[in-house]
Amino acid sequence: MRKLVVLASGSGSLLQALIDAPANGVTYQISAVIGDSPTATALTRAQSAGIPAIALPKTGLSADQWQQELKTAVMSFAPDLVVSAGFMRIIKSDLFKLIPTINAHPSLLPNFPGSHAVADALAAGVSETGATVHYVDAGVDTGEIIAQQAVQVLPGDTESSLHERIKVVERNQLVSVVVRLCQQDDLWAGLRDD
Ligand code: GRF
Repeated sequence: MRKLVVLASGSGSLLQALIDAPANGVTYQISAVIGDSPTATALTRAQSAGIPAIALPKTGLSADQWQQELKTAVMSFAPDLVVSAGFMRIIKSDLFKLIPTINAHPSLLPNFPGSHAVADALAAGVSETGATVHYVDAGVDTGEIIAQQAVQVLPGDTESSLHERIKVVERNQLVSVVVRLCQQDDLWAGLRDD
């Protein structure tokens, strides 16, 4: 059974999908959830599931200190895989070089990287955007792409309505990628499905 640490900042619905994935055939256990805000719903979801939940606020720390704290906290669980699922921070330590780290992003990368991907897609007037899971590297949403799925932009879509439809896709996509990666001998090997 592979060990995961999940990083999450927000509502944690992607985390919940990883928690709720059917036990049959599941290849992982979640050792801990780490968030950057003590009030993140994601941490409450972890606690409700009996998973250690750690809040690492930046308050009082320099950027470098916080990055080191994050790395130390993650490494203390010796995970096989780190999953950034709605984590609104960029990992700037060498953590992603030591442990395979993947990120869920709500666009068809390389289009619309960054923290406003859904709003940027709407503003650009594209007819489709989507969901990507990729390896984390030193850039912002630039790592090797593992899986992608398109989502149509519908007339009248708002950022919220479009993001909700993307998140429906992201939940299945992330669980599927994590299950499949955890079945591999080499979690760095990647797996493209498109
Ligand atoms: C997802 O769209 C993810 O791609 C983005 O943040 C969102 C997380 O949603 N980085 P939730 O907090 O898991 O509901």
